[in-house]
Amino acid sequence: MKPNTKNLEYFFNPKSIAVVGASRSEGKIGNTIFGVLVKNFRGKVYPVNPKADRILGRRCYPSVLDTPDVDLVVVAVPAVAVPKVMEEVVEKGTKAAVIITSGFGEIGNHALEERVKRIITGKVRVIGPNCLGVYDSSSKVDTMFLPEERLKRPVEGPVAFISQSGAFGSVMMDAIGEEGIGVSKFMSIGNKIDVDEIDLMKYLEEDEKTGSIAIYLEGTEDGKKLMKVGKEVSKKKPVVCLKAGKSKKGTEAVSSHTGSMAGSARVYSAAFRQSGIIEAKTTEELFDFAKALAYQEPTGGRRIMIVTDGGGFGIVATDQAEKEGFDLVELDKKSKEILRKCVPEYAIIKNPIDLTGDADSERYRKTLDLLCRNERIDGIVCIVLLQITTLGEDIVPILVKISRKYRKPMTFCATGGKYTLEKTRELEKEGLPVYPTPERAVKAMSALVKRGEWLRKVL
Ligand code: ACO
Repeated sequence: MKPNTKNLEYFFNPKSIAVVGASRSEGKIGNTIFGVLVKNFRGKVYPVNPKADRILGRRCYPSVLDTPDVDLVVVAVPAVAVPKVMEEVVEKGTKAAVIITSGFGEIGNHALEERVKRIITGKVRVIGPNCLGVYDSSSKVDTMFLPEERLKRPVEGPVAFISQSGAFGSVMMDAIGEEGIGVSKFMSIGNKIDVDEIDLMKYLEEDEKTGSIAIYLEGTEDGKKLMKVGKEVSKKKPVVCLKAGKSKKGTEAVSSHTGSMAGSARVYSAAFRQSGIIEAKTTEELFDFAKALAYQEPTGGRRIMIVTDGGGFGIVATDQAEKEGFDLVELDKKSKEILRKCVPEYAIIKNPIDLTGDADSERYRKTLDLLCRNERIDGIVCIVLLQITTLGEDIVPILVKISRKYRKPMTFCATGGKYTLEKTRELEKEGLPVYPTPERAVKAMSALVKRGEWLRKVL
């Protein structure tokens, strides 16, 4: 079966939204969703609640049938009330709905879930139930029912994130928001009675705002379809997936969480490999890889050079690079001679290149300039420990300029406190993926290497 992308744009760019179950009580889920939309959404928002005349100063409608035309309905009423609400949504002719409500297949209430499915199939596109829904950093559609003072929303950026778990998705949004990683769209898909990760992946293939797609997956209903669509999408955009529920107990937990079939971990890994989906083994890897892939080009090979201003960090990076199977090339004689003239005699011109603890921005500029022009180097892991006083603030524009000029695949490591974090944000805002440990910077490079290898195989 083909993925169904029909009307999915109504989730991300609706002109108007109705919140059914927009409660009068502050702190209730429907009240929070409505409040956040009223504050941030660029289109019209209507509250639906038969018991209220006005909510947050807005005229309230007894049913979705009474509202002016709506493109998207958000449903936050108790599970028993959902079928009737969805019948009205269908009657209204609305194109898309997010059902936040829990209490369906995930708790064994399959009959209710099937009933809703019968009502909506072929009539209205539905995300959920048992989900957080959608966050679009550009249009400000935001159905996450967690208040902004508790959950920071990420800024606009290139990473799209599809999550089968609402909690996993939302707390990652919070963490990403804090880290400054830009997100294009977030989709929490819950029990997937209609829209699933495959539909969304296909939709995101054409989404101009999305540079890479990260997926938290507990299980898929159609492995062959996931592989086929994964392969199509991966030719155009990088896809990274964290498969949860790999252990025996983890598999059991999946079935009681979203009711999905967890499947064998080995089968999933093989399917990902064959379809060009890059597998993340940990939560950290999911976003580290998605960030590198969204911002940087894939490499043309495994020949990686490490540059550092701290010897220990260079060694740790080297250890990890060996684990990743990188070819840690040495510079050719001529390049060594040129570099030698640019750095003091105590700098170490091997791989890793150690610019030492009094490196300044110019030393980095000259070294990286030389390495970026060297066709025998496929990628550079650049460690910049910003604490040293010789390194001026101009290191940020220098790294940005070099990265933009050569587009050589690069990942960066900067470890430290407040000052380092500030500079890290500045670098990331300009599209340089920065990691707090050498291991993470090297692993992120391995995502660029894997993507390059896969693209060379299929294109
Ligand atoms: N149409 C319109 N409004 C209605 C209707 C209806 N048919 N029925 C009830 N309402 C109104 C109610 O009157 C109420 O408004 P009020 O407070 O002003 O009286 C409002 O809708 C909400 O109804 P309640 O009965 O108060 O329900 P409550 O808010 O307690 O719970 C909810 C509803 C939040 C949807 C709940 O059933 C639920 O599913 N909670 C879990 C949600 C969840 O966790 N989803 C998964 C997220 S993913 C994750 O892991 C984080």
